[in-house]
Amino acid sequence: MNFSQVIAIDGPSGSGKSTIARLVAQKVSAIYVDTGAMFRALGYFCHQELGSLSATDQVINILDRVKIEYPGGDQRLILINGEDLTQTIRQHHVSALASEISLIPAVREFLLTFQHTLVDDHLCVMEGRDIGTVVFPHSLCKIFLTASAEVRAQRRYNQLEAKGELKGVNLKQVLQDMEERDHRDSHRVEAPLRRAEDAKLIDSENMSIEQVSDMVVEYYRQRVKETSR
Ligand code: DC
Repeated sequence: MNFSQVIAIDGPSGSGKSTIARLVAQKVSAIYVDTGAMFRALGYFCHQELGSLSATDQVINILDRVKIEYPGGDQRLILINGEDLTQTIRQHHVSALASEISLIPAVREFLLTFQHTLVDDHLCVMEGRDIGTVVFPHSLCKIFLTASAEVRAQRRYNQLEAKGELKGVNLKQVLQDMEERDHRDSHRVEAPLRRAEDAKLIDSENMSIEQVSDMVVEYYRQRVKETSR
């Protein structure tokens, strides 16, 4: 495992992490890793098995028989016990399940171990909530992406609409659910969402995807130069 090979991108939901991380990975020929997809897949899977995520001990028991695979492709991103959950995890209700299961320390530990196995000698862009603070605290380049709640909710709403996943949910509901999730993600005891002290803050509110991704790539190159001196 090589920490210096990681570009860590953290931030709240709808901040543009996935889009930016994918694009940056293309631009610098890196592997793209979406850690939110892992929490989503586990949250969905355990909820299917148990009907709820409130019995923490039962969730933890399930982890013993979970085989998670991350092929990482657009069409085939994540599988649990051989079941491809790539499309399923994008449903609106799965966001809350992911946030709920992410509160359980044993789940975080399980996924942290898995996340470490994905990084070897290859450059990797990993996005999530705690990559720069907990998963790879010594990563070469750390970014914290943000934007106002209204703008982030509108982006989430547009994504759901484009995927035909709105299912009666309106913008107000998306905003409210997102604010609840942000609050839970930022206030949990274990690995809360926060900016690492040495992360570069980028407010994507009035910037295009190209501008943000170029800024990340530029910062990454600057960090490579600084650390190779
Ligand atoms: O990035 P996302 O919206 O797909 O993430 C879904 C949830 O998973 C998020 O609300 C909190 C959790 N999560 C986390 O706790 N740590 C991460 N590194 C990534 C996601």
